[in-house]
Amino acid sequence: MFRIDRNLTADELDKALRADVAEGLTARPKQLPPKWFYDERGSELFEDITRLPEYYPTRAERSILEARADEIAEAAGSVALIELGSGAGVKTRLLLDAMRRQGDLARFVPVDVSGEFLAASARPVADDYPGLDVHAVVGDFERHLGLLPVSEDGRQTLAVLGSTIGNQEPGPRASFLRDIHDVLHPGDCLLLGADLVKDPARLVAAYDDPGGVTAAFDRNVLSVINQRLGGDFDPAAYDHLAVWNAECEWIEMRLRARSAQHVRVADLDLEVDFAEGEQMRTEISAKFRREGLTAELDAAGFDLTRWWTDDAGDFALTLATVR
Ligand code: SAH
Ligand code: AVI
Repeated sequence: MFRIDRNLTADELDKALRADVAEGLTARPKQLPPKWFYDERGSELFEDITRLPEYYPTRAERSILEARADEIAEAAGSVALIELGSGAGVKTRLLLDAMRRQGDLARFVPVDVSGEFLAASARPVADDYPGLDVHAVVGDFERHLGLLPVSEDGRQTLAVLGSTIGNQEPGPRASFLRDIHDVLHPGDCLLLGADLVKDPARLVAAYDDPGGVTAAFDRNVLSVINQRLGGDFDPAAYDHLAVWNAECEWIEMRLRARSAQHVRVADLDLEVDFAEGEQMRTEISAKFRREGLTAELDAAGFDLTRWWTDDAGDFALTLATVR
């Protein structure tokens, strides 16, 4: 069975985009939130990134799931799997397979802001898993957790894979984990994928591939503003940068104006100037350590019960339980 709820209508989506862009382009320094990378093209570019030799997180997380999915399913023992930022959902199928083998899984709730991409990836899941209730939700997981179909009839697991949790700064991340805690029930599970701190050279390479796929993903946010808000950014006028912030232990993606730019965003009646060389932050991607993540989960009301990594120790998949 397949159904899709659109908690985020095109209208609401536009409103949120307008507010974020107006605020971000007038801030000092300028910055934009990463959720706006993901129109259909942005989601496709992210999938291209996951296949790059330099971008290890997806392969590392997949290898953990290949080795541990049955263990996870058994420990989670859930009737429902909710996945926030589900994207193409390729790795999720390893989890769905194991949860079906384990026996109790009745419902899958993929949630994503990228509506068309979500519909295209979730509908085939309903075809491939007969009897599974696939209830997709187009929404912003920072705002719409309260609207998710939450099970009252058994334990559930909420998954945030791919280290998507790392795209939030520590303050909002703490609120997000607390909000997740509040929609779940005691004994429910959180399955969290987290990229780990490692050699900065490898991290920078993962976010700045020589073929320019990540650069195209980064610049896509400018195309989204052009298309949705009548902007006149020239994406080619900006260089993509990936910088390791050692103090905060996160990668920053930035766009740097090659020359002075005057930009008009018609729908916001906004004109902004970029000086030559001016940088605008478009994403952070935090990298984690075991102690830090355990403490963050604890502060949000979770007990970290399992911690698995890939063979190289690059990436962790953690299972935490609502106290
Ligand atoms: N979980 C997948 C995809 C990760 S890419 C994987 O591990 O490969 C991040 C995904 O989160 C994208 O599909 C993007 O559209 C979605 N996303 C980002 N911010 C979001 C938000 N605020 N609300 C809902 N989805 C969001
Ligand atoms: C979705 N998110 C976890 C990715 C990351 O690694 O932070 C997005 C990404 N940005 C550049 N490459 C991939």
